[in-house]
Amino acid sequence: KNIVIVISGGGSNMEAIVRAAQQERWEERHGARIAAVVSNRPDAGGLARARALGVATEVVDHRGFASREAFDDALAAALDRHTPALVALAGFMRILTPGFVARYAGRMVNIHPSLLPAFPGLHTHRRAIEAGCRVAGATVHRVTAELDHGPILEQSVVPVLPGDTPDALAARVLAQEHALYPRAIRALLREPA
Ligand code: GRF
Repeated sequence: KNIVIVISGGGSNMEAIVRAAQQERWEERHGARIAAVVSNRPDAGGLARARALGVATEVVDHRGFASREAFDDALAAALDRHTPALVALAGFMRILTPGFVARYAGRMVNIHPSLLPAFPGLHTHRRAIEAGCRVAGATVHRVTAELDHGPILEQSVVPVLPGDTPDALAARVLAQEHALYPRAIRALLREPA
């Protein structure tokens, strides 16, 4: 079972998944390997991190395509070269076309830094603080056509503390994401195919 991780940025969630796969020997135990890390940004910090972990990387730069459909076709071609059983979006910051989502139906997941269904979209931490939430967190969910709305697989809760800034809350949530995302994927790998 090949897993392909798709990123746009720093790749700390990607790194957490790769490290879990290596330390817990997912290949031996689940027949699962991280086949590649694909980024839509050539300057994503996660690319160097992936290479340092011994994972193949690829870039499909969205700026080279005239339409969202053309980009998604190229991204799908890059993913399909690795015959993914699972596509894990990890800080991937592009809206996907319905065709792309349908192609990976049932085998694509995402991590979102809020307790969905609260706060889909951007600026989740600022919005949670402004709403007066006492708890915040992160969600791993299946990807469906509607952004950040697929069935929930796992969640993790953190407190919102008095005086929290969006950055302070983001850091607290991100630390939880690094345990949450590997846990969610591990659970999927245990499911009968
Ligand atoms: C994470 O908070 C993720 O939930 C959000 O973007 C951030 C990505 O961080 N979608 P990283 O690239 O995994 O470090």
